[in-house]
This record gives sequence, structure tokens and C-alpha cells, in this order.
Amino acid sequence: MLGPPGAGKGTQAVRIAQRRGLAHLSSGDILRSEVKDGTELGRKARSYMESGGLVPDDLIIAMMVGRIEKAAGPGFLLDGFPRTLAQARQLDERLAALQRRIDRVIHLVVGDDELLNRLTGRWTCTKCSAVYHERNSPPARAGTCDACGGELKQRPDDRAEVVANRLRTYHEQTRPLVDYYHGRGVLVDVDGQAGMEEVTRAIESLCERGA
Ligand code: AP5
Repeated sequence: MLGPPGAGKGTQAVRIAQRRGLAHLSSGDILRSEVKDGTELGRKARSYMESGGLVPDDLIIAMMVGRIEKAAGPGFLLDGFPRTLAQARQLDERLAALQRRIDRVIHLVVGDDELLNRLTGRWTCTKCSAVYHERNSPPARAGTCDACGGELKQRPDDRAEVVANRLRTYHEQTRPLVDYYHGRGVLVDVDGQAGMEEVTRAIESLCERGA
């Protein structure tokens, strides 16, 4: 699942992984849990995340490849990884050694104004990481997660000034992956600006068609 911050990668990844029985591997969720637990990786990653930059490639690759190796089931859905060309190339090498491969890249296309609106209005559950939006998908009770009753908070990196840096980082370092995967013939553009259900239907239909 490839796309800028706030494009809906997490929202769609949860749905698609659940429906298709895939392991959902979100680099952002894993990093936030490492930060929360105060692990060595979390301590190293924290300042990069808070400023809207990227955590160094070597840390991310080790973290994600470890999770991929342990993933059970028919396959896995990557959300937020890879995010640089170096990550993508190393991922290909490591997957080849495991006799696995990336067979499809869903590229969610959304304009910067809409991204800013989505990120500054997002609320995330501190317990189960479920995601809400104050206008687009509000919880039944403000501040409380519908799924687990946990407390909802705004992410520190969703402040407008950090969002601006995350968008810049995306355009400079992650956008080149669109050409990389397009060249490999596995990338499909999906209009991420449409409503959530519509986006889910579009991705499901691509999966059904094997496109
Ligand atoms: P990460 O958590 O991956 O952040 P991100 O890529 O910036 O993506 P987001 O989680 O912000 O957005 P999303 O696309 O998942 O959107 P969502 O579904 O929540 O990474 C955080 C940080 O960790 C990075 O900045 C970096 O420092 C570090 N990091 C992570 N991976 C790394 C890597 N590989 N290498 C190096 N560093 C890494 O939706 C957003 C909002 O919009 C929600 O409120 C949602 O309800 C709403 N919404 C969703 N879809 C729609 C829709 N169709 N219509 C209307 N509203 C919608």
C-alpha cells in the first residue's frame, strides 16, 4: 500500500487484510508501539518520527523483514514500507531469498489539501490503533474507540507544521517508488480521494481481477 501521509493506507489496509486473510504489517504502527514500550529501536526512531522525517533505512529494513519472515498465512500486506528506493531494493533481495515477492502495489492518489484536512482531523485509539476522523468517520462517543473503548488521541506528528514536513519527505524520498514499481509492472493507481467504501471496492475489484 503506497501513498502519501493521510492517503488512507492504514484505513484500507485493515479492511483488505481482514477480508483476504493477510497479515497487515504497518511500519508506522510497529514503530509507535516500539516508542510506547520505550525499546532501543523506539528511542532511536522517536525524534525522526516527531519531526516528520524518515527513520534510517537499516533500522526499518531489519524491523520489517523480521516481521515478514514471521508472518503466517497466505501472504502479507505492507503499509508504509518500503518508503525509499534503498528500502525497496533491499526488500526485493530479502524476499527473493525467501522465495517470495511483491505481486501488487496499490498506489493511493490524493491531493495535498485533502491530506492536510485528513491528518489534522484524525483521532487514533491509544489501545488498538483504530483510526477515526472528526468529520469523515467520527466515533459514536467523542474521545472513545468504538472497537475497544480505548482513549482516542491525536498523533503528535499530525500537527500542521509536522504534516508539512511529512509531505515534503514523501515527495522527495517516497514518490520515486511510484516509477520503480510502475517499471516492474506491479503498480496500480487508485483514486484515494473517493469515499472510504468506494476506495475499498476499487481495491477489492483489482484484487479479484488479479490486476
Ligand atoms: P506512518 O504511520 O506510516 O504514517 P504515514 O505514512 O505518514 O501515514 P498515515 O498513518 O499518517 O496515513 P494513512 O495513509 O495510513 O491514512 P489513514 O488511513 O490513517 O509513519 C509515521 C512515521 O513513522 C513516519 O513519518 C516516519 O517517521 C516513520 N516511518 C514509518 N514507516 C517508515 C519507513 N518505511 N521508513 C522510514 N520511516 C518510517 O487516514 C488518515 C485520516 O483520513 C483518518 O482520519 C481516516 O479516517 C481518514 N480517511 C481515510 N480514508 C479516507 C477517505 N477515503 N475519505 C475521507 N477520509 C478518509
